[in-house]
Amino acid sequence: MHFAFSFIDKRAYIRFLDSTRNSKVISFQGDKILVDMKILVIHGPNLNLLGMREPEIYGKTTLEEINSLIRKEAKALRVQVESFQSNSEGEIVNKIQDATKKYDGLIINPAAYTHTSVAIRDAISSTGIPTVEVHISNVYRREEFRQKSFISPVASGVISGFGVYSYILGLRGLIRHLKNKEK
Ligand code: DQA
Repeated sequence: MHFAFSFIDKRAYIRFLDSTRNSKVISFQGDKILVDMKILVIHGPNLNLLGMREPEIYGKTTLEEINSLIRKEAKALRVQVESFQSNSEGEIVNKIQDATKKYDGLIINPAAYTHTSVAIRDAISSTGIPTVEVHISNVYRREEFRQKSFISPVASGVISGFGVYSYILGLRGLIRHLKNKEK
């Protein structure tokens, strides 16, 4: 099994473990504590088509390439990351419910469900899993129906419009948020 680690200050230790459900202490080193952090990335409907889907809007990077960029960044940031894609709203809801037992935080590009899904929003707010919403395109520069997100009000943060780099910014933001949460 592959593990990646993060160092946190000893004084923040108890509060940190309270706030992140799945991080485990790996070892104590002086006044630092080594913990692992696990993050889930969910890609919503039609994102499996990235690379050939409307490249003028979403670029030419495939989903597989995006996942590989995320993994590379996660390794550099010393966290564990797993990715999941589904075109089905119910599967995404199930995955979010299940995630609270296994992951400390969630990065989600809900794609079209951003603008329609009360069920995904409720899954995030019911479980309380810290969540960053990401979009490849800047949804606020696009059609009016894309300017309403059901997810943003229950997300810790939102990143939109930086292409595939939105995922990297989302990952960095989420890790920082998880580490600082209880300070
Ligand atoms: C998207 C924006 C959504 O409006 C759209 O339905 C998507 C992708 C994005 O990443 O820019 O499928 O979430």
